[in-house]
Amino acid sequence: MSTYPAPNPIPQHEPLHRNPGVVATAIMSAGVVACVATVSYLSRSEGAAAAAPAPVVVKATAASTKASSASMPGMAMPAATAAPAAAASKPYDAKLPAVGAGTVHRYTLTIHEQTITIAPGVRYDGWLFGTTAPGPVIHVRQGDWVDVTLKNGGAMPHSVDFHAARVAPDVAFKTVPGGGSVHIRFRATTAGAFMYHCGTAPALAHIANGMYGAIVVDPKGGLPKVDRSYVLVASEWYLNGDGKAAPASLDMAKAHAMNPDYVTWNGVAGQYKTHPLSAKVGDTVRFYVVAAGPSLDTDFHIVGTVLDDVWLDATTTDVLHGVQTELVPAGGGMVFDTRFDSKGLYPFVSHSFASVDKGQVGLVNVGNVAGTMSH
Ligand code: CU
Ligand code: CU
Repeated sequence: MSTYPAPNPIPQHEPLHRNPGVVATAIMSAGVVACVATVSYLSRSEGAAAAAPAPVVVKATAASTKASSASMPGMAMPAATAAPAAAASKPYDAKLPAVGAGTVHRYTLTIHEQTITIAPGVRYDGWLFGTTAPGPVIHVRQGDWVDVTLKNGGAMPHSVDFHAARVAPDVAFKTVPGGGSVHIRFRATTAGAFMYHCGTAPALAHIANGMYGAIVVDPKGGLPKVDRSYVLVASEWYLNGDGKAAPASLDMAKAHAMNPDYVTWNGVAGQYKTHPLSAKVGDTVRFYVVAAGPSLDTDFHIVGTVLDDVWLDATTTDVLHGVQTELVPAGGGMVFDTRFDSKGLYPFVSHSFASVDKGQVGLVNVGNVAGTMSH
């Protein structure tokens, strides 16, 4: 596609942030960990281009207000004050949502503190953007404005930090107390698959409790067309109990040791083994992979195929071809295209196999075959 930059003849394949500790330290020292106590829900309203917005608008209020409730495809829209029931066995919808019309995309993101299911029969007292971990996927085009009202429907202070933004974090990503809200506006100037998360200290705890999500920014003119696109957010859970008789909550010692009980795609261990993603024979499929951590990297690999095109982190200029496994660093995101040549079940994993055993494995069912597969 002419709008897409030509690939480099020599792959530039530099591992980024191999050591998650380094990433955490860098984030902390950059002062990105300001915060806002807010929300877990994202609703999108229209995107008509109005007069040019100010670069950043931040307006905090102490008390909660009623949630506006434009709906977002595939998502229920609870009132801001109601804590919806724990998520059932329905999988997190991995399909990339379409970009809305216009160049200004308005969202209301409401934070909920509520119990969710993170593995079969395992419940966890999460802190959520919306009602799921990860929170809803935001999808815009490069150059568009993202306008977010963050409402803190929880009791704890929370915030939201968008990696796609160029804003003063102490202003835009500030912490909001329970019941408060903040309004943030930024221009998505850089294309890529980005993370957003609560940055309220200790960010380790807020992310480990479920406060993360993906924001996809399409490059100008778009990426080459593919048959289907999925978003996969990698993250880990650290439990202070088994979560079966009663919901578990965070074990901070395990989180510091980076020794999780579960590692997941889109928040629930093994959910795409029981509810595989689908594709047809010959399809080219795009995966937007964001490693939310809080601390582990993801070594993305699909069993039975090769990653034809790989875009490093947020760049669209350094394209790799013919890659077997690629590192997605904690706090990073990458885009992968692959083609499935024959019918069957194709596991997608972090090739760090301790993570597979802890739940970070899903399947792509190509050609609607029967059965399942473990790896
Ligand atoms: Cu938080
Ligand atoms: Cu961050």
